[in-house]
Amino acid sequence: MALALVIGTLAPMGNAAAAPQSVETPGRQPDSVLLAQGINPHPVKLIIPPARPLSAMALLGQKLFHDPRLSGSGQMSCAFCHDAAHAYGPPSAVSVIIGGLDMHTAGFRAVPSLRYLYRQPAFSIGPDTASGDNDAAPNLQHQAQQALGHDKVLKSALTPQAAAANLVPQGGIFWDGRADTLQQQASGPLFNPAEMAATSTNAVLDVIKRAEYADDFRALFGPNIFQESRLLMAEAMFAIGRYQIEDPSFHPFTSKFDAWLEGKARLNADEMRGYLAFNDPAKGNCAACHLDKPTPDNLPPLFTDFQYEALGVPRNASIPANRDPNYYDLGICGPYRKDMHDQVQYCGMFLTPSLRNTATRKVYFHNGAFHSLAEVLDWYVNRDLEPERFYPKDASGNVVKYDDIPAQYRHNVDTTDAPFNRHPGDQPALNKQDIQDVIAFLHTLDDGYSSKSH
Ligand code: HEC
Ligand code: HEC
Repeated sequence: MALALVIGTLAPMGNAAAAPQSVETPGRQPDSVLLAQGINPHPVKLIIPPARPLSAMALLGQKLFHDPRLSGSGQMSCAFCHDAAHAYGPPSAVSVIIGGLDMHTAGFRAVPSLRYLYRQPAFSIGPDTASGDNDAAPNLQHQAQQALGHDKVLKSALTPQAAAANLVPQGGIFWDGRADTLQQQASGPLFNPAEMAATSTNAVLDVIKRAEYADDFRALFGPNIFQESRLLMAEAMFAIGRYQIEDPSFHPFTSKFDAWLEGKARLNADEMRGYLAFNDPAKGNCAACHLDKPTPDNLPPLFTDFQYEALGVPRNASIPANRDPNYYDLGICGPYRKDMHDQVQYCGMFLTPSLRNTATRKVYFHNGAFHSLAEVLDWYVNRDLEPERFYPKDASGNVVKYDDIPAQYRHNVDTTDAPFNRHPGDQPALNKQDIQDVIAFLHTLDDGYSSKSH
């Protein structure tokens, strides 16, 4: 039953090449037998970014990334929130980090991991190419962008006709995709009053001028670099971006699952059942959004389709901004992203994050509403079966589902894709055992299984 289906989805992409392998040849065991032993029937050689010595630019970026003096408080570097020991995610379980000039100002969103952003495409509204399949979404999207021009895609996509053509938001950096490149992104936290809260370009320039790496700036950008503050800032941010692109610690691909994809590890029984449930469209259906197959050209899966969904995660009372009942973080349609306010069909939508290293996190979703995978899965499965366990009641005693989105936008919430397509009284998409298995599988996505998988 499900197994036949699953074996179909297990084949690596580029089916023309894979087809002959799936024919049972003498001496080769059928896929189902191999899977039952935890073996990948179709191993591939993954193409991962080569480990080269860091460029001078990236080395400079590394110093900047770890320098707390750049912040307004003098106490907060990028690494304060993006901790290398936690896959460049948050080191603690607090939903939002406290920072700012006084180091008492709360942020608005959970800190994402900085791992595996190296293939993140720029933000666009384009054809839905990724649903359920691992085609080369970024590639097709690139073609669509080339054909239409980036801005035109953005604007034309927002008409009803475009919606009918199934154009969807995709790509971009931050939970709402508002930055396109790591260079463009880095000045965000640097000057964000709730984060590093640098007070001005000149203040940052002064720090760099006196830092032990000032000579690196002169060597790379010429002796007059400190007279040109805008250029200096642009180069500094570019260097931070280069560090994240070049340093293998941002994309190590040393998980057990990577080793399994290459035929160098076996999944145990729990992990294998979890993998099957993760892929089964009638169960977890997780792989519909968190893509888990290598691309046709053998790039490792990143466990995201780079697309956006409104899942209706419960409001998190521990975020101070949420004390204001009129404040809503609506992702693509604002308030932090400013160009799509009137695109109400995207209100409540957030970027699908990678699930690599997700089991190491202590805070989940854009608003940090949950603190363990058990909580996340419980909510995924029971969101619409037992909503009263997750959402508050209004004055007349009715459960307010999806309470972190204003009523008029709640219909944006995904209620059609499994596991979100359930109604009270239905069977849950995953039973208790399935949930444990999926969590066991998610642990195989943690880096550090092999010191070097290649
Ligand atoms: C106070 C904690 C904090 C500090 C310090 C901080 N960040 Fe972040 N970072 C965040 C949060 C929170 C987000 C998510 C914000 C959002 O989506 O609007 C984020 C998002 C990001 C992202 C996007 C990740 C993704 O998956 O889309 C990148 C890249 C990033 N930060 C890099 C940096 C760099 C580089 C620095 C230093 C210049 C830095 N951060 C400093 C908290 C921090
Ligand atoms: C329809 C697309 C979709 C499906 C199906 C889906 N997810 Fe997600 N997932 C998302 C989006 C979008 C987010 C971020 C939502 C937010 O923060 O508001 C997310 C977030 C998560 C997170 C939190 C990660 C983090 O860093 O905060 C986990 C864990 C997760 N998903 C696991 C799963 C599992 C396991 C399944 C299958 C049971 C699944 N997802 C099915 C789209 C999906």
